[in-house]
Parts: sequence; C-alpha cells; structure tokens
Amino acid sequence: MVKKVRKAVFPAAGLGTRFLPATKASPKEMLPIVDKPMIQYAVEEAEACKIKEYIVITGKSKRAIEDHFDVAWELEENLKSKGKNAILKEIQQLAQHQFAYIRQGEPLGLGHAILCSQPFVKDEPFAVILSDDIIDPDDNLLGDMIKIYNRHNATVLALQRVPKSEIHRYGVIAGKEVRRNVYKISDMVEKPKASAAPSDLAIIGRYILTPDIFNIIQKTPPGKGGEIQLTDALKILLKRKPVYGYLFEGKRYDGGDKVGYLKATVELALKNKGVKDEFKEYLLSRVSSIT
Ligand code: G1P
Repeated sequence: MVKKVRKAVFPAAGLGTRFLPATKASPKEMLPIVDKPMIQYAVEEAEACKIKEYIVITGKSKRAIEDHFDVAWELEENLKSKGKNAILKEIQQLAQHQFAYIRQGEPLGLGHAILCSQPFVKDEPFAVILSDDIIDPDDNLLGDMIKIYNRHNATVLALQRVPKSEIHRYGVIAGKEVRRNVYKISDMVEKPKASAAPSDLAIIGRYILTPDIFNIIQKTPPGKGGEIQLTDALKILLKRKPVYGYLFEGKRYDGGDKVGYLKATVELALKNKGVKDEFKEYLLSRVSSIT
C-alpha cells in the first residue's frame, strides 16, 4: 500500500549571502513578500495538501523562524484589547501546527540538510519545500506531485524549463516523457555548465521523497561546491528505483535572487486584496516614466 505524504521538510540553514546585509542577523526565509515571510508561503503550500507535520532544518541566526510559528501571548493580548480580530485570528493560526526544528550544525549542503530530518521523518514519504522557490499560491504544484507519487509509489521531483543562461544554477535531468508533463528520469547532474547539461529541464525546489533516500545520502560523497548534494543521492537512487519528474508550467519566482524576489513581490502584491488596486494604479503610472 502507498503510504500517505504527511510530513514536509523545509531546509532553512543556508546563509542567504545573496541578500546580505539584509540576512546578516535575520534568516532569508523570513524576508517578507507583501505581508508574509517566504517560509509562510511554503508552509501554506504544504497545509493546502493536508500535510500537518513540519520539520524545519535551521542553522545560525534562525531563531526568528521558530518565533514566527510560536504562540505570541503579549502580541495577542495587545491585538485583543484593540479589537483587531482579523489579524489576531491570522496570528493565532500560525501557532496551530506541529513544528519540529533541527539544527544543521554545519552548512554541508542540501543532501545533508535532508539527512538531518531523518529522526522526525522516520520511515515515511515526505515533501521537501525550498522556501526561496516561490510558487504562485493559485497553482497546485505540490498537490499534483503527490498525485504522481500516489500513482507510482516513487520519488517525484518538480521540473521547469530554464534558459541556457540560467542552467548552471540548477540540478538538471535527462528523461523520457511518459505522460503529459511526467518524465521518467534517467540521469541528473547538479549545476552543470550549459554546454554539458543533459537537457533544459531543471529541478526546482519541490520534491516528494521516499525514506530510502536517507541511507543513500549517508553514503553520498561531497559533490559540487564540496557539499553533499541531494541531486547526487537521487542519481544513485534512480539506478535502483524509478524516479519521476513533473514539468510544472505554472508561475515560479526565484526568491533567492534579487530580481526574482522583486518579481514575486510585484506579482503577489497584485493578488493581495488589501493592496492590489492602489499598487496597480501606482505601477501603471510608473511604467510610462521608466526610462
Ligand atoms: C538546490 C538544488 C538544485 C535545485 C535548486 C532549485 O540548489 O541543489 O539541484 O535545482 O535547489 O532551487 P540551491 O538553489 O540550493 O543552490
């Protein structure tokens, strides 16, 4: 029987160097997009798929993430006394879920971060969500991936076509399309040069993994950048078991990159009831004057 995906892992131990100095003392996962930190969008994505257990892999200067998803008595009392009930409800909801935090002592790579989650994931399948890959909340990427997992009882990675100029920033796959937008993966390589990339299909930050990945990661030597790479472990896995890729055709923004982050901000502001009308008017007035 196929086990249900009930847990999500959020690797959040990266140093966020591309956003310095903003990330000197606070985590990049807490950078806001309109009125929510990036990691909250990621958690809401899991929540929409009825995943209720969240495991955050943290590192230095990441306390703010724990505080964000914790009860905040003083703040709640203050909002109550002022009758700010709508925002009070939203704040209280943040602390409703079951979170576990695991400290990744050293930044040894994404594969190692995933390995750190093993004591909580145990022998279940799980989702991995990289919160700086922002998926439009109207697209149900994770839900579609879970459907593929349920059908095949196998690992599923999210894919997107990327231009040659960006390919070196991603894990890239080779594979065969077996159904519309579903690929059976035959090879993968972490951050290749454009000239050596097996295709233009890049892995983006959503994975449905099975617990057998843990033993493989344990034996995976450091790869690109001297880090233990999840891509390298998955490459070993696919020699033993089928691994699928789902080509996502919806909207994704690279929140780890300044321009990607700005695009996400604009797009999500244009969907936010509270600000969209005024913001749209402002953008339209600006467009004609940008040189
Ligand atoms: C990680 C993975 C890479 C993947 C990317 C998606 O890289 O190692 O394979 O393509 O996430 O965002 P990172 O961006 O953490 O360097």
